[in-house]
Amino acid sequence: GRPLKVALLGCGVVGSQVARLVTTHAADLAARVGAPVELAGIAVRRPGRLREGVHAELITTDAQGLVSRPDIDVVVEVIGGIEPARSLISTAFENGASVVTANKALLAEDGPSLYSAAEKYGADLYFEAAVAGAIPLLRPLRESLAGDSVNRVLGIVNGTTNFILDRMDTSGAGYYEALEEATALGYAEADPTADVEGFDAAAKAAILSGIAFHTRVRLDDVHREGITEVTASDIASARRMGCTVKLLAICERAADGRSVTARVHPAMIPLTHPLASVREAYNAVFVEADSAGSLMFYGQGAGGVPTASAILGDLVAACRNKVSGARGPGESAYTMLPVSPMGDV
Ligand code: HSE
Repeated sequence: GRPLKVALLGCGVVGSQVARLVTTHAADLAARVGAPVELAGIAVRRPGRLREGVHAELITTDAQGLVSRPDIDVVVEVIGGIEPARSLISTAFENGASVVTANKALLAEDGPSLYSAAEKYGADLYFEAAVAGAIPLLRPLRESLAGDSVNRVLGIVNGTTNFILDRMDTSGAGYYEALEEATALGYAEADPTADVEGFDAAAKAAILSGIAFHTRVRLDDVHREGITEVTASDIASARRMGCTVKLLAICERAADGRSVTARVHPAMIPLTHPLASVREAYNAVFVEADSAGSLMFYGQGAGGVPTASAILGDLVAACRNKVSGARGPGESAYTMLPVSPMGDV
């Protein structure tokens, strides 16, 4: 078939890996999609920065111009943040392009309007990389569990804070030392406040509860508490009680099914629980469903290469749909459930 053209917005920790993989895996991607998949342009803010393995002639600072090109089939957005990402994604949809994004902040703030824009212009919206990086999680929740009823989701969905808490617990490292290490490894956000204050995990909790419970949950609905007040002595006392401390995203459906709660806070986990064994910057999401029982999804939730894996999976899906004329999942029929931050106490 004719080559599919991809516009990449952002070329940082994640974007540079997407660019590299699209190029080095070109033959596999073409085979899986049924047509060549080509990078048509890469929009960046600082064109001068050295980017190994990225074709310099693809680089532009005109993101708006790139997404407005009529030949673009799929836009991959890895800039993050609300603006300009939101406007660029709107333009992409207006042009009939499908969108693959890792933008948890935007999805948690404005997911429903993104879905309706995609719907209106007959395009796809995929965002597997927005929650728990490389871990296939949103597709299983949305598709494999579509005939089941999810009651609770417990997630370690922020690699940076898990790394910090783990280092404090096992090697007695100080908070700042551990944070610096997480940043150097490419796990932390540009501004690590989003990680340590729990905003990143709260955005992911909003996205997860929306999909798990077929409703709409926004960042503001999520009760949030970060890890900045967790001390070495808190962790030591948890140990003495046979527990470890993790920053958890807790999404629950009320027993009567009429409301949901979503919250993020440090929690004591018994060492016997599978979530207690999640070390370093790994993520894990524990799902409890009526028929399936307990499930755990585990893997790398941050970092350029693992996150790029999820993006490439979405890119293949969006490209296949372009070839076959099919549409992606869209927002499944939802029920508007009231969200109470803390649930019944
Ligand atoms: N800063 C995030 C984390 C990156 O540490 O998990 C992935 O969203």
